Amino acid sequence: MSSRKILVTSALPYANGPIHLGHLVEYIQTDIWVRFQKQCGHTCHYVCADDAHGTAIMLKAQEEKIEPEQLIEQVAKDHIADFNDFSVAFDHYHSTHSDENRELSAQIYKQLRDKDLIATRTITQLFDPEKNMFLPDRFIKGECPRCGAADQHGDNCEVCSATYSPSDLKNPVSAVSGATPVEKSSLHYFFKLPEFTDMLKEWTHAGHLQPEMANKIDEWLTTGLEEWDISRDAPYFGFEIPDAPGKYFYVWLDAPIGYMASFQALCDREGLDFDEYWKSASDTELYHFIGKDIINFHALFWPAMLSGAGYKTPNGVFAHGFLTIDGHKMSKSRGTFITARQYLDHLKSEHLRYYFAARLNNGVDDLDMSFDDFTQRINSDLVGKVVNIASRCSGFIKKRGDNTLSENCCEPELFRSFVNAQFEIAGSYETREYAKAMRKIMELADQANQYIDEKKPWVIAKDSERNQELIEICSMGINLFRILMAYLRPVLPETAIATEQFLNIDAQSWPTDTKPLVDHVINTFNPLMMRVNKDDIDAMLGIEKEIKQEEAPKAEVISQPSTQPEKTIVTPEIQQDEPLAEIIDYKDFTKIDLRVVKIVKAEQVKGTKKLLKLTLDLGGETRQVFAGIKTAYAPEDLEGSLTVMVANLKPRKMRFGVSEGMVLAAGPGGSDIFLLEPDEGAKPGMRIQ
Ligand code: 2FM
Ligand code: ZN
Repeated sequence: MSSRKILVTSALPYANGPIHLGHLVEYIQTDIWVRFQKQCGHTCHYVCADDAHGTAIMLKAQEEKIEPEQLIEQVAKDHIADFNDFSVAFDHYHSTHSDENRELSAQIYKQLRDKDLIATRTITQLFDPEKNMFLPDRFIKGECPRCGAADQHGDNCEVCSATYSPSDLKNPVSAVSGATPVEKSSLHYFFKLPEFTDMLKEWTHAGHLQPEMANKIDEWLTTGLEEWDISRDAPYFGFEIPDAPGKYFYVWLDAPIGYMASFQALCDREGLDFDEYWKSASDTELYHFIGKDIINFHALFWPAMLSGAGYKTPNGVFAHGFLTIDGHKMSKSRGTFITARQYLDHLKSEHLRYYFAARLNNGVDDLDMSFDDFTQRINSDLVGKVVNIASRCSGFIKKRGDNTLSENCCEPELFRSFVNAQFEIAGSYETREYAKAMRKIMELADQANQYIDEKKPWVIAKDSERNQELIEICSMGINLFRILMAYLRPVLPETAIATEQFLNIDAQSWPTDTKPLVDHVINTFNPLMMRVNKDDIDAMLGIEKEIKQEEAPKAEVISQPSTQPEKTIVTPEIQQDEPLAEIIDYKDFTKIDLRVVKIVKAEQVKGTKKLLKLTLDLGGETRQVFAGIKTAYAPEDLEGSLTVMVANLKPRKMRFGVSEGMVLAAGPGGSDIFLLEPDEGAKPGMRIQ
């Protein structure tokens, strides 16, 4: 495969607010694509920046009584921290309020002007006489000229959907000062977009856009393009137009130029050739990932400006839909406006990366998120299928094979079929059909688990004569797991690194001709991924669970119907006035999967007298279990000790979260509850048989 040279951007977030989950759809989508390209060995640069100009940012700074420069500096810090924590790995992150952008914007403007592509004329707009500023449409409110609805914004009515010009609003007021706006004229600068109609018609149909977006652009081209107003009057936070004192570039003029400015800064830092990526004759590739709402800027104005100024036009503009939560727009009042930080305070970044990957395709439909679906996909796909392969196999390799994989690959066909899946998966990544890629990877994970189920290493392990066979099977499992993690690397970069440390291998490139690891020493397995817990989601959503003392569950060690609220029981507590538990037959008993577990964490559950929240390590997998043993054990005394759990109990929703099993204890209650303690030789994950 010959190496490509690719420059990729995501839309620049405004520097007046936090990154939220809606933004992250795009950054995660782009980051996965970039990581995939890099993993394939291509040269790929990913740049972005804060979009720092415009009226909204100027006003926000005024509101906070700081200079806009201070505001954008602070916001940039927060944005960068959020991106880092979501593993969105820009090669450079810049600001549109930068020297590079000032120079490039001026240069592009001058080129357009010198080619007679800029017009000037006087226009009349609404002006706030108190603030002494022209009012952008969204800072004017009034009554709809058609239906009379109050409090409608500048150019359209949310009640009757009428569109109009802000000066048609009845009883308009300035949203900035409350003053009644007046009409005022001033000279504006326009980019002669209609001159590019033919060029844009051709470009739109040359495969650079998704079909839905090309159709949209076609509509505009058919209606006829208008000249684009690129100037704003002072006061404005932006760049002054070189030959027009007191006039500023409209934020949308210099925002996309910010892509170039950020790349320029990267070139200066790394000695790259700027022109190679932007000059019209170049054979490098340029792609912009954006939301579908800003397609006009990226598929009309931007290619026209670039072509007018002698630069190459984008090879692709990839639009995505909006994020909705439970079928609705993210909303502050519903509690579903979730910022990146709010998410990170409670949940794992890679869980969201995987969830979005599992739901994203290359279309522009909205992505509807439900947290039940989210939980289910992480717990069943990533933890239950993928990581499970490693946790099922690694224990035997450690204990019975000295952490060394077998000298041969016992199922070369199976291994080859996993490697051959690379073409289909790569094709899906390349075309941004991540959901398809994830489905294929999970299909392979199912096959790997089926292989282990069929071979039953836990049965073979009982026969010491079959040790070699045991190690061969488990090594096979580990080798399959390794390929899966190579395929998941663009989505789960941190888990991929942890996997590579576990497997004692270098960073995995795209598995073009990967050979199985044989006679290879691996490291001891540590849990690679935690399950998602509902209480963490609730906490993130700010759902305070009020726990009234009398409603708190009383019998928690055992999960079976808590009809004896005051008793804390496991093995049936034998008291004269209580019948023994129902007799079960041997077959039923064998269904119970009893495991040795290590209590890695024990925490109080607020508002309960007896409950402790235990985090249990089953030798790779982690579970959360609520146990009513607080009256007998202090949390700190439990951490690090071993006990026994029922590992295949159906997860039970409790008020505080999901309990994913049950620990075994006995005793009458109060301070007399005794957790079952296995022998010291036991190790987490061992089955009790
Ligand atoms: O819509 C937005 O959030 C803009 N700040 C995106 C700018 S993208 C680019 F053109 F700069
Ligand atoms: Zn109306």
